[in-house]
Amino acid sequence: MSDPTPEPPPSYFRNWLSLAGTVLALSAFFAFVLLLAVDMLAHQGNPYMGILAYVVAPGFLLLGLGMIAAGAWLHRRHLLAAAPDQPLPNITIDLGRPADRRRLLFFTTGSALFLMLTAFGSFQTYHYTESVQFCGQVCHVPMKPEFVTYQISPHARVDCVRCHVGDGAGAFVKAKLNGVNQLIGVITGDYHHPIKPPTNLRPAQEICEQCHWSQRQVGRLDRTYTHFLADETNTPFSVRLSLNVGGGEARGGAGGGIHWHMNLDNKVEYIATGERAETIPWVRVTDATGKVTEFASKDFKDDPAKHSIKRMDCMDCHNRPAHNFLPPNDAVDLAMASGRVDPTIPWVKSNLVEVLTQTYTTESDAHAKISDALKTRYPGQPKLEAMIAETQRIFSQNFFPEMKADWRAYPDHISHKNSAGCFRCHDGEHKTADRKHTLKASDCNSCHVILAQGAGEELEKLNPKGHNFFHLDSEYSDFSCHNCHTGAFPK
Ligand code: HEC
Ligand code: HEC
Ligand code: HEC
Ligand code: HEC
Ligand code: HEC
Ligand code: HEC
Repeated sequence: MSDPTPEPPPSYFRNWLSLAGTVLALSAFFAFVLLLAVDMLAHQGNPYMGILAYVVAPGFLLLGLGMIAAGAWLHRRHLLAAAPDQPLPNITIDLGRPADRRRLLFFTTGSALFLMLTAFGSFQTYHYTESVQFCGQVCHVPMKPEFVTYQISPHARVDCVRCHVGDGAGAFVKAKLNGVNQLIGVITGDYHHPIKPPTNLRPAQEICEQCHWSQRQVGRLDRTYTHFLADETNTPFSVRLSLNVGGGEARGGAGGGIHWHMNLDNKVEYIATGERAETIPWVRVTDATGKVTEFASKDFKDDPAKHSIKRMDCMDCHNRPAHNFLPPNDAVDLAMASGRVDPTIPWVKSNLVEVLTQTYTTESDAHAKISDALKTRYPGQPKLEAMIAETQRIFSQNFFPEMKADWRAYPDHISHKNSAGCFRCHDGEHKTADRKHTLKASDCNSCHVILAQGAGEELEKLNPKGHNFFHLDSEYSDFSCHNCHTGAFPK
């Protein structure tokens, strides 16, 4: 380095692409800092602010950096091609040169700062894409049904990702790739209406048992289901059940009852058909001693090995823990039982179920037509406005015409009244190959006993051994409930 006036080293970065990249990266960087500040100071999070700050801005920053590098590489190729014999620009660093020292200092502090901010930025990006806001609100049209029902579910405070994304890097990458696919679907409008139930939920044992202790003995639960008939006086009719939930293993108690299926002392496997597992023609049980028993419905003659066999878990019964779309019958019953709709208004039960189940194109279309229809049916009714408001609320929380999502698209398997539910297996028709043994719990008293039924004083006549089900003035013990009770019955 004897040259007294050293040439400033020429740079590969002096080209248009790298320059444009620098401008882009710098703008994206400042946009990121600004959006970050706004997002942190803002009181109420805005889902789009998040997507701009943690997805779009870092995206442009990376694009800018990529352009700088690509420009330099292209420029180097260009120089080489133009003058192959010319020595390449000298890019050695000489710490004896003050200009080089300044450059180095600038470069190292710059990189350190950038790395820190990227680390923070990626953490924020990670955090943000895992948030309920991102999952539920960014794609607000397709996710609206799940987001709205989630917010009124028992799991409204559980983040979406705790049920939908597994632990560990593999699950994270898989979920993000899947997410990119879904984003493309949203942008191009290419997604199912209604969205299909996920087939890739992590094993229930991992999801639900983060919080629920599967060895727990629940014992008996006392529940009352209140209904009103579709007649002029909206005759009240309630059923008070003592549900034998029990527990999954013998250690903590009797180890039987409904939670017997928890796969602790035994294993239940099945074959399901239909997109929402509506029919289950074949079941296999392996008990604690290793004894295997198979049950099948009459017309199932296939070789089970030709089908995909699934192991039963929590979500085969609790399939709507966070997104329960109430059938109109139950939603109106609930509103009447809690006094939000006055049960003394003639025919109110049947009229509300009927207006809820008309065909509407959008939520606002439904609101307008519900209001018109009820005004025509109840002119001068003093509680009309409250009735309209409540019916519109029921609609908004349970019906999503834009996505074709409602109780018909997503039946709840926990019961057997509005869909087959437990009776997909416990219908008295699932038997061993010799047709001699029926699957246990195929009678009205093994899952629950009816403590009382009816209304008023009737409901106080408790029978701990269980009443026979008194249905439409006669006793009833058949497994075809959902053939009549469709959720919007009898209209
Ligand atoms: C407590 C666990 C849990 C939480 C929390 C949860 N989900 Fe789900 N979600 C499920 C289960 C279980 C299913 C599958 C239901 C089935 O198979 O019938 C599901 C299904 C879905 C589906 C598919 C369509 C459907 O309704 O079956 C979407 C979309 C969805 N969830 C989005 C979300 C979003 C968005 C959030 C957060 C706002 C969320 N979920 C929170 C458990 C959960
Ligand atoms: C992050 C913790 C968490 C996870 C994960 C979780 N739950 Fe829960 N779950 C709760 C809490 C807390 C409650 C009680 C809510 C309350 O009573 O307000 C609850 C309540 C319930 C109830 C009673 C609901 C009711 O109507 O009272 C059921 C059933 C249930 N969970 C099933 C599940 C299933 C099935 C899964 C897996 C898909 C699951 N939970 C995942 C925390 C969780
Ligand atoms: C065979 C169907 C079935 C399976 C499988 C099942 N449950 Fe349940 N579970 C029920 C029924 C029925 C109830 C009664 C309450 C109801 O109807 O919601 C119940 C009640 C509960 C409750 C409420 C208990 C309370 O004290 O209020 C929780 C929590 C629960 N289950 C969690 C789970 C978890 C976690 C799993 C998986 C390890 C699971 N269940 C598997 C059918 C099932
Ligand atoms: C996939 C099929 C399937 C579904 C769905 C199902 N079960 Fe079962 N259940 C079984 C099998 C198999 C047995 C064991 C039958 C036997 O050994 O004879 C059983 C046993 C039981 C038992 C007796 C347990 C004991 O104490 O020995 C009860 C109670 C029960 N189920 C309740 C329910 C309820 C309630 C639901 C719905 C929420 C339900 N089951 C859904 C397959 C199923
Ligand atoms: C395999 C278990 C099982 C069998 C067998 C069974 N039930 Fe149920 N039943 C349930 C469960 C679980 C629920 C309620 C779950 C929920 O909604 O939380 C229920 C709910 C009910 C209800 C209240 C429904 C409502 O929404 O008002 C009635 C009434 C009823 N059962 C009658 C019967 C009759 C009658 C029989 C015999 C034909 C029968 N059950 C057989 C599991 C069973
Ligand atoms: C042959 C058709 C039919 C079958 C099968 C049937 N029901 Fe009903 N059920 C009716 C009719 C009709 C009413 C009166 C409905 C009304 O006026 O709202 C009714 C009323 C009810 C009610 C009170 C009102 C309501 O809307 O919830 C309950 C609870 C009920 N049934 C439960 C059951 C159960 C549980 C089963 C199966 C064990 C069953 N039903 C089977 C026809 C049927």
